[in-house]
Amino acid sequence: MLGNFSYKNATKLYFGDDSLKYLNEELPKYGKNIQLIYGGGSIKKNGLYDEIIKILKDNGKNIIEDAGVMPNPTVEKLREGVKLAKDNNADLLLAVGGGSCCDYAKAVSVSVNCDEDPWDKYYIRFEEPTCEIVPVGCILTMAGTGSEMNGGAVITNHEQKLKIGHVFGEEVMPKFSILNPKYTFSLPKRQMVAGIYDIFNHICEQYFSGDDDNTSDYIAEALMKSVIHSSLIAIENPEDYEARSNIMWTATWALNTLISRGKTTDWMVHMIGQSVGAYTDATHGMTLSAVSLPYYRFIMPYGLNKFKRFATEVWGICAEGKTDEQIAEEGLQAMENWMKQIGVALKISELGATEDMIDGITEGTLILEGGYKVLSKDEVKQIIKASM
Ligand code: NZQ
Ligand code: ZN
Repeated sequence: MLGNFSYKNATKLYFGDDSLKYLNEELPKYGKNIQLIYGGGSIKKNGLYDEIIKILKDNGKNIIEDAGVMPNPTVEKLREGVKLAKDNNADLLLAVGGGSCCDYAKAVSVSVNCDEDPWDKYYIRFEEPTCEIVPVGCILTMAGTGSEMNGGAVITNHEQKLKIGHVFGEEVMPKFSILNPKYTFSLPKRQMVAGIYDIFNHICEQYFSGDDDNTSDYIAEALMKSVIHSSLIAIENPEDYEARSNIMWTATWALNTLISRGKTTDWMVHMIGQSVGAYTDATHGMTLSAVSLPYYRFIMPYGLNKFKRFATEVWGICAEGKTDEQIAEEGLQAMENWMKQIGVALKISELGATEDMIDGITEGTLILEGGYKVLSKDEVKQIIKASM
């Protein structure tokens, strides 16, 4: 049965190869001080930085430079960004980059006017913001996380060996996001496929839970088919605008809260993957791909109907003359073949995880209850070992 829910998405999107011009429409809505948040320099190499600076200057804005947001942004960087925004009275946090820049901007936004330490308040105690929130805007350069249209903000604490996401409410979602698929052309192939797997797994996390006749699951199947189809075109020709735009749009829909409405969700691949990330600092999508197959093969017997449906509806497996188990396994085999074809990591040892990390990764994995089987710590450990 479709559960009860409310739905609003607070982010205005501008999509397409001319979408940057809409920054001119958005900027007048905010004060003078713009904190320009970006990463390690890809936007300087591909020219986007210069274009944005020109638009900001033409609109008479003061620019507060906040560079060097690393993949998997750290709590130390977050504290620096909060200080920068406070000292300069930032009126808008403009993130230019992938999920890391956008997540970081959201974490700064809820912390600027808050006297407590953001790590303790939002990532250990999971409290909601009670202070004034500085608005966030996003110019997306990497498709994957869906951060451009959601309230998620994942922060890593290397000292505590924890990588934790807080999903904030609509007031923290970007006020606007600019999505130009051409910006993703300069992504290295490894980042592109990590993003593609991240998209696919976001859909799986919401699909592999519950067994009702739910519209969300039909939407999820369509999104999965679209991302699989486009991924195969994009790995051959990364500058195929149609494929890159479909991937970018699918990423947004995979995690903008729509397909989780009215149903339960799993998220255990992300919980294990994030703990792997806390130990290895590996690329997010790769941490997910490396633990997915052992996890799904482990829970498959508990959600057999859905795995069978996944095999026939998403992968086109022919069911005739086969047991449910055979059909479900053929679906996972098809998924594995596709993962090999696009070239994502299939083992956490490829990402720098070593045997002596297994206990810590197990300990750092948050156990959620929405999937087909609530895992014990021992089962988490078994899955991590099988991912080595
Ligand atoms: O830093 P620069 O130089 O910009 O390089 C980045 C970075 O090294 C590069 N890059 C991005 N766009 C590029 C480009 N290089 C060339 N051309 C371009 N157009 O790609 C690298 C990775 O960027 P990053 O932002 O880290 O990737 P992604 O978008 O995958 O974000 C990952 C972060 O988002 C979190 C992850 O845990 C991780 O911390 N997530 C956020 C979620 C959310 N908000 O809902 C959900 C996800 O499950 C995820 O956990
Ligand atoms: Zn993800």
